[in-house]
Amino acid sequence: MPDDLLRLDGLSKSFGQVVVADALDLRLAPGETLGIVGPNGAGKSSLFAMISGDLAPDSGRVVFDGEDVTRVPPHQRARAGMGRTYQIPRPFEGMTVFENVLVSATGAAGLRGRAAADAAADTLERAGLLAVANTRGGALTLLQRKRLEVARAMAASPKVLLLDEVAGGLTDPEVVELVELVRAVNATGVAIVWIEHVVHALTATVDRLACLAGGRLVADGEPSAVLADPTVRELYLGHALTVEGDVA
Ligand SMILES: Nc1ncnc2c1ncn2[C@@H]1O[C@H](COP(=O)(O)OP(=O)(O)O)[C@@H](O)[C@H]1O
Ligand SMILES: [Mg+2]
Repeated sequence: MPDDLLRLDGLSKSFGQVVVADALDLRLAPGETLGIVGPNGAGKSSLFAMISGDLAPDSGRVVFDGEDVTRVPPHQRARAGMGRTYQIPRPFEGMTVFENVLVSATGAAGLRGRAAADAAADTLERAGLLAVANTRGGALTLLQRKRLEVARAMAASPKVLLLDEVAGGLTDPEVVELVELVRAVNATGVAIVWIEHVVHALTATVDRLACLAGGRLVADGEPSAVLADPTVRELYLGHALTVEGDVA
């Protein structure tokens, strides 16, 4: 067994009475693909925020690539190989698509000059965004914004890509395109953690699925077994798992 790429040890976090993480343990191997489902408000985005350093846990540890990064700021975690997307895409609206990706290549990946420009162009090609390279971030369609969100994370040369509901709001054919992109990124050895309500996108992509509820992983394992799990089914009773989540 290779060492874990990412490990959460006893991570806890509450906002007042709302418990988003309750002594949560999680391990992710290098190159592994993990999907995360859970009801709205379960704490999925907060979990990513704690992994990436945007949110400090009340207790517990985040260990990335063998280092305790619990107190390491977000930009340093990005440099260490964490690429994340945000549930609400955050492109620099006034910058072109190319410039948006260049910011990641220079900031997170630490590249300069020609090397950064080449990396940005390569990322745009892989993400299917070359045709809109000179379009302003603010002028993109939803699919293009989601692709740009993934491209910005890819340009950081991550070891793990944290995807937060990047398929939400897309049509089925658009979801298929996004799944192909994520699979292609994973094929280069990048581990994936994908939070998503569009379950068929996850089952087409991940080897492992976990369900977060009440700050705990109530199920974690082989995707079809997790989806058949009575606790998981009960959580979604009356809510089709494919329903698009709100953008909390
Ligand atoms: N910064 C914050 N301050 C207070 N409450 C928050 C904050 N961020 C999230 N929450 C609350 O924590 C809960 C989990 O939110 P979130 O992690 O966004 O859930 P999910 O992504 O699973 O829908 C929600 O009840 C939300 O309102
Ligand atoms: Mg969320």
